Amino acid sequence: MIELKPAKRLPRFDISKIYSKVLDRPIAGNTGNSLAMTQRMIHIDSPLFVREERLKDGEDVTSIFDRQGPLALEIGCGTGDFLLQMARLHPEVNFLGTDIYNKGCYKTCRKADLAGVQNIRVVRMEARHLLSNHIRRESLQAVYINCPDPWPKKRHRRRRLINSDFLQLLLYCLSPGGRFYFCTDFADYAQGVAELFPCQGFRNQLPEPFVNHLEGYPSSKYMERFRREDLPLYFMVQSKDREYRLEYLEPPPVPSPFRKPAEQRGIWAETT
Ligand SMILES: C[S@@+](CC[C@H](N)C(=O)[O-])C[C@H]1O[C@@H](n2cnc3c(N)ncnc32)[C@H](O)[C@@H]1O
Repeated sequence: MIELKPAKRLPRFDISKIYSKVLDRPIAGNTGNSLAMTQRMIHIDSPLFVREERLKDGEDVTSIFDRQGPLALEIGCGTGDFLLQMARLHPEVNFLGTDIYNKGCYKTCRKADLAGVQNIRVVRMEARHLLSNHIRRESLQAVYINCPDPWPKKRHRRRRLINSDFLQLLLYCLSPGGRFYFCTDFADYAQGVAELFPCQGFRNQLPEPFVNHLEGYPSSKYMERFRREDLPLYFMVQSKDREYRLEYLEPPPVPSPFRKPAEQRGIWAETT
């Protein structure tokens, strides 16, 4: 078992600051925060970028790729470094990146365009909204989440993306045998996610609940940054049990982690 050392904290951006800096309007899957409606937005004219309007409510994302193929999703792709490497390593796979950060989507598309990589598409959507509304049942070969916002304050922990409700949504979207890769620099987050397992429907693919090094796994921008600082990373790999019988015909509801006005309180699938 690996000893968990609390990571020395680097200055990190706060999601609420991102919202107020880069959003000109609420995005699909509005997290419930009061979003600034003005502010700078970088226009993205890359053919790899798929505007949310293009995806009709309930339309699944396979239509945005111009070919059939296994589908993999990176949630919170940031500036696209990981996604680009994965797309090059696995040209047969269709990679979808999503991020709520407009500038991140812009940079991801720009890098992929400059590299001439074709098997990437980028959407700017809240992850749970995307999974609940635009991913077909049991259609994802893999889901990658690298260095998600750690929400370090105790009172904010329920805002963390990965929790038991989220795992149920993943089980709905992952194909049998599909993999869930998770990496964090934050010991407390790693511990919290490790405690969600064993979870019915998932099988650990590692000898330990998590490891500090995952051979052949490309680095994201944040992972690189933490490595440079000699800070530990925690990797988890779970796969969806091939024997698992999915009970849901529709995506399971994921409660919103954010406080909302009473009339809007409810579940993601209904409120977004
Ligand atoms: C700390 S950054 C890490 C970026 C990248 N994965 C990396 O490792 O370099 C977290 C990213 O997740 C995005 N993000 C946070 N919550 C999200 C959500 N609910 N849905 C989609 N993206 C989200 C943020 O905008 C940010 O770009």
